[in-house]
Amino acid sequence: MHPLELTSESLQRALDLATRFVREEIDSLDSQPSADVLGAEELALGFVEPPPASPRPLEAILDRLRPAIRKSFNTAGPGYLAFIPGGGIMSAAIADFIAVSANRYVGVRPPAPALAQIEATAIGWLASIMGYPKTAGGILTSGGSLSTLSAIVAAREAKLPDDFSRGTIYVSAETHYCVPKAARIAGFRDWQVRRVAVDPRRRVDPMALAQAIERDHLKGLKPFMIVANVGTTNTGAIDPIPRLVSIGRSHSMWVHADAAYGGFFRLAGAGPDLMPEIEECDSITLDPHKGMFLPYGTGCLLVRDPESLKRAHSMDAEYLHDVRAQEQPNFSDLSPELSRDFRGLRIWLPLVLHGLGAFKDAIEEKLMLTRWAYDQLRADSRFELIDEPQLSVVAFRLKGAGPASDALNEELQRRVNARGRVFLSSTRLDGRYVIRLCVLSFRTHMDRVRDAVEAIRAEADEVLSTGSA
Ligand SMILES: Cc1ncc(COP(=O)(O)O)c(C=O)c1O
Repeated sequence: MHPLELTSESLQRALDLATRFVREEIDSLDSQPSADVLGAEELALGFVEPPPASPRPLEAILDRLRPAIRKSFNTAGPGYLAFIPGGGIMSAAIADFIAVSANRYVGVRPPAPALAQIEATAIGWLASIMGYPKTAGGILTSGGSLSTLSAIVAAREAKLPDDFSRGTIYVSAETHYCVPKAARIAGFRDWQVRRVAVDPRRRVDPMALAQAIERDHLKGLKPFMIVANVGTTNTGAIDPIPRLVSIGRSHSMWVHADAAYGGFFRLAGAGPDLMPEIEECDSITLDPHKGMFLPYGTGCLLVRDPESLKRAHSMDAEYLHDVRAQEQPNFSDLSPELSRDFRGLRIWLPLVLHGLGAFKDAIEEKLMLTRWAYDQLRADSRFELIDEPQLSVVAFRLKGAGPASDALNEELQRRVNARGRVFLSSTRLDGRYVIRLCVLSFRTHMDRVRDAVEAIRAEADEVLSTGSA
């Protein structure tokens, strides 16, 4: 047999090895440090090498991979409370294994209609979670950044198809940087992205937004797009969507919701009230690799009107005439991609296997854990809590002002992380160092959040008693 084709026995043996390897990794996640990058760059250097001319045994390859996996931020583990966690549920890995092994083509529909439909169905389920009508559509992307790029291009084609040189996009001061980045990639100059002030809870100020739009109209600019934050990365703030939708409608603008982080909280009982009228937005960025706990590389863009994506992305080529669907959408007509993985399976299979209820329960648990951590830290007079959590971020700092206080907070974060049980990240808000605790991994439960609060309190004792970094 050709060496690139594994025999049935060698495939089984390789799978057994890989399964054992993965199980050892997953089973030990709880006891692995929440981050361990000491010496990681030296280890990385060991992977700078020419391609091997001859085969190597899988056992040896896995032995090399293990330290490469371990020397990292443990983004799959329960202690990962930094940035925006996700987790990576194993049923998605099983889906990926099947999808990659089957290796069918879903970029256009006719080569594998049922598989393309599985993906379309999964997108439809996500649309219904967000309250979109059945006529809505969308695409799966590698993540929020690429979803945002397609949203901006769709908005540009819908509102300013001929000349966008004076078009302006409105974001808040808290909007994720992927929005201005996508705007730049889509051909806008940086000045065309207008940053609007936020209120004390870091939600965009709708009055300031309306005024900015009016002013720009008077200057002869062409305001065409508003981006609503549905869960900012800093603090989880949610913009007043109904006001933004109404401002957008009165100016015939495209309203996009960046719900990359916040979107799946709509599954919670309180979810629809957290983000009223999100279903009125023209498009929604959702990151299943965040709130649906799927592996990195799973993003989604939903649109109320799928034709808008088609106008922005569809193109014809003679060599594709054999395989272009006429009635049903081809994903390649709705997105920048043609050949790509069958990523729909990693959403569809976990939803079918676990049922939506399991995801709802997990999201409810994250809200409960966040509230608990917030209440604990708020009860400790040494801490200043930046805001009541709107989603699952607790942003806090040791009280105090000035660079010395920033240094104490930085030291507190460093010491908590050095314990290895939880991993926190930081940001700057109003020029001050702020520590963030974000609960989103499906593996994070009460025991770990309790560890986090204990570690924060105990290290605060240390930091405050030594009095300086
Ligand atoms: C609010 C928000 N929007 C967009 C993004 C970008 O998403 P991605 O990293 O999947 O490209 C992120 C990433 O954390 C985010 O938190």
